[in-house]
Parts: sequence; C-alpha cells; structure tokens
Amino acid sequence: MNSLTVKNLLKKNPNSQKVCIEGWVKTFRANRFISLNDGSCSENIQCVVDFENTDSKILSKITTGASLEIEGILVKSQGKGQNSEIKVNKIIVLGECDMNSYPIQPKKHSLEFLRENAHLRVRTNTFSSIMRVRSNLSFAIHKYFKEKGFFYVNTPIITGSDAEGAGEMFKVTTLEINKSSLNKQNEIDYNQDFFGKETNLTVSGQLEAESLAMGLGKVYTFGPTFRAENSNTSRHLAEFWMIEPEMAFYDLENNMELAEEFIKSVIKDLTEECKEDLEYLNKRLLDEDKTKPRNERNELNLLERLDFVINNDFKKITYTEAFDILKNSKPNKKKKFKFPILEWGVDLQSEHERFLVEKHFRKPVIIYDYPAKIKAFYMRMNEDGKTVKAMDILFPGIGEIVGGSQREERLDVLKSRIKDLNIEEKELWWYLDLRKYGTVKHSGFGLGLERLILFATGMSNIRDVIPFPRTPKSAEF
Ligand code: 4AD
Ligand code: MG
Repeated sequence: MNSLTVKNLLKKNPNSQKVCIEGWVKTFRANRFISLNDGSCSENIQCVVDFENTDSKILSKITTGASLEIEGILVKSQGKGQNSEIKVNKIIVLGECDMNSYPIQPKKHSLEFLRENAHLRVRTNTFSSIMRVRSNLSFAIHKYFKEKGFFYVNTPIITGSDAEGAGEMFKVTTLEINKSSLNKQNEIDYNQDFFGKETNLTVSGQLEAESLAMGLGKVYTFGPTFRAENSNTSRHLAEFWMIEPEMAFYDLENNMELAEEFIKSVIKDLTEECKEDLEYLNKRLLDEDKTKPRNERNELNLLERLDFVINNDFKKITYTEAFDILKNSKPNKKKKFKFPILEWGVDLQSEHERFLVEKHFRKPVIIYDYPAKIKAFYMRMNEDGKTVKAMDILFPGIGEIVGGSQREERLDVLKSRIKDLNIEEKELWWYLDLRKYGTVKHSGFGLGLERLILFATGMSNIRDVIPFPRTPKSAEF
C-alpha cells in the first residue's frame, strides 16, 4: 500500500478505506490517541489505537518525536477538532525517540533555545510553517518572473570582481595560511592561488546579471549571497538569499513599478497557497502580542498586514523629501534619533527608515533619487549632478527590503564615477564593455528573501527564517 501524506489524507472523505501513513508523533494521549505529523501541512492526523489489542512493548515506544508507520482505516472522527481519523490496525515503530534527552518536548520553547537546536526545530509547528512559507514564496517568485517573460540565470558564487562595494567579502582561497604564500613584499601571492587571482564569495549577482540582460532582455538571479559585515542585528545574515531581476530598456520608474507589483503578487500568491500556515503564524503572533504592553502591540494582525500591502499603493518620495520630513520630525527636534538628521546627504539609518514607514506614512515607502555619494558607482547620475537614480523599498517592522537602481549606461559618465571612487578601471573591463557595445538604458533591484519572509511570517529575527543561519561567530550545523 502506498503511503499518503497527512495533507492528502485530511482532504479525503472518510469511508473506512484502508490507508497507510508515515510520520512523527507530536503527542500520545491516554495510551490511545496519537497525533501524527509528516511535515506536509501544519495539521496532524489523529490515529486511534486499540490499546487492549496492541503489544505493550510497542505502546511504550510511542513517544513524542518517535517515527511511525501506521496502517488502518480512515473513519469519521468521533472527537472534536478533526473531521477524520485513522482507526489503527498496525503500528511499526520506525525510530524510537528517547524522551529524556529529546530537546523538543511537547511544550512551548523559546526561539533562542530552538536556534541552538536548529537541526531539530523544523519539527515544531512554528518552524515547519515558516519553512513551508519560505518554499512557497520561492516558487511564487519563480512563477511571477516566468509569467512576465523573464529568464532565470545563475551568476557565479565565486567572483573575481570585488567592485560592487555592497559589503565586506569572504575570501575564497586554497592557499595555506602561512609564510609560503607570501611574495617578496610579504603580501599574499594570489598568483599561487587556485584561480591565479584574488577571489571572493559574491555579495551580489548584479554585475553579471547586467551582462546577461544585455542579450536576454529580462533576467533574474535567485541565489545565495555573502557579506562579512559584522552587523549582529536581527536583520542581517552573513549568508542570505537574494532575488535580483535586471531589465534592459527599463528606467527607474519602470523599475519601481515592477518591484511593487512583484512584491504584491508574491504575497498574494502566498496568502492563497499557504492559508493554514499563515493562520497558525497569525495566532502565534497574537499570543505573543498579548504578553506585551498595549502600546507595543501590533495595530494590524499578520493577515491584515499582508492584505494591507497587497491592496495599498506604496508611498513614493525622493530622498530630499524624506530628508525634509525627517529633519522637521519630532524625534529629530527632540534629539531622539541616535543619528541626528542635520545635513542633506547623510545616509538614512534604520531608525529613520522605520520612522517614515511606521510613524509618518504608515505604509511601505519607496525612496528614490539618493545622493550619489552614499550609493554605488553603477547608479545612473541625474541631471542635477548630485543625485543618482537609486531606489530603496522600506517595509514596516523590517526597514529596507529592496535596493535597486537604474544603471549608468553612458561609458564616459561611468568611467568618471569609477575614477572618482578610486576603483581600478581594469578590474571592471568586461563591465565597461557592456557600455561600449550596444549600450541601453537598464535597471534592476535586489530583494532579500529572508527580509521578505520576516514580513510574511511576522517573525522578528532573521535567524528564524533560514534553516541554518550564518552570523558573526556562529556557523554551527
Ligand atoms: O541594497 P543591496 O545591498 O543591493 C544590492 O546588492 C544590489 N546589487 C541589488 C541590485 O540592484 N541588483 O541589497 C539588496 C537587498 C536589501 O534590500 C536587503 O533586503 C537584502 O538584500 N540584504 C540583506 N539581507 C540579509 N542580510 C544581509 N546582510 C543583507 N544585506 C542586504
Ligand atoms: Mg541597500
């Protein structure tokens, strides 16, 4: 008999048909009721054991966490809370679980404790829901771009170009860390290294995606990126997944429109595909809220927040407008910001972003036309000579979720920017070629997958939305 998943079983009309199921015990009550889960959905199937006719040795092995194969018949449930249940005929204990040492007890565990047990935490309701949401979002992202005529491209993870300037990089080398790899000047001699040059893990696939967009039109990458910045925050990972679309013939306006439509579309898809998991996460958040003082509670619940984003236009303002609002804001005047807003040109910190999104506009905000000096070399210079066609999308509770721009397509302007920023032009020879041969206006952006999952699940720490987080001083598992 082929096993079914719990998800499929629960959809079936119970009419005493024979069924077989495999899964892990969530709870075992009164020597009679096994709640079994197999990861296919957040719900469990109740399996009712005829304990009088079951070997007591087997019964003693049915504990939380044990894995079982169960054969029986699917019947209408006698109890409350479920439509159908399995009347058990046969139980095979596949793997016992020592309840004395098993960390995942049938009770509430703190998120910190579960992080230390990341190899087991997916067996809890919260983490299995988060991981199903993550999977569904990833597929929704691919689906969105496919329907829009984009091509999925893979850019290198080991990169020889380190000019993106997006953050500190992790070195990739096969050299031994000892004196033999030093040259006469006592510097590391990368000529001896595997690639014969210095290489790093990529911080972004953008530059290579631009190259691919110049022949394929509309492309996107979706892969891991690495940043060795030592920011131990609840929004930063050293290894995270980024989606980077890049579009030939798009200007900044087209780029912002696409980004907004894209985010709305994948969240809408998720609310349709992942109803039960979102309801579970919503309930979790409501419970968490109840433990907080009234003024710190969320105004909208999780499901309402998702609907709000789907149904409302994002607010679009220039950096200069944002700067004016912040400069004249109460927290700035009362010196409440850690980084006061004084002069035009300052970089916006997350406290400023969150003020704009959560207090001032109370909706997602797109800020565009940033000062050139706080943005990367490749962003297109505006006519004013001071600002570039950059855009960031800011989300409530998260801050920056998307960063993007229209790219500088004019060879001479790009070259002078590279020079001003003291970047080695010869390192970017191939990137400059794109401007020499058939250059066109083009744009793109990067969305951090984990930041999007934070928003979609209502979780507040980025370490809880990726299976095995990599952060400073932490790379267990
Ligand atoms: O704004 P960023 O640095 O943009 C780029 O890398 C561009 N090359 C993207 C492009 O135009 N193709 O990063 C983009 C997004 C951020 O908005 C944020 O959501 C996420 O990536 N991100 C991180 N997520 C988790 N941990 C980190 N350390 C992150 N750094 C950036
Ligand atoms: Mg950014």
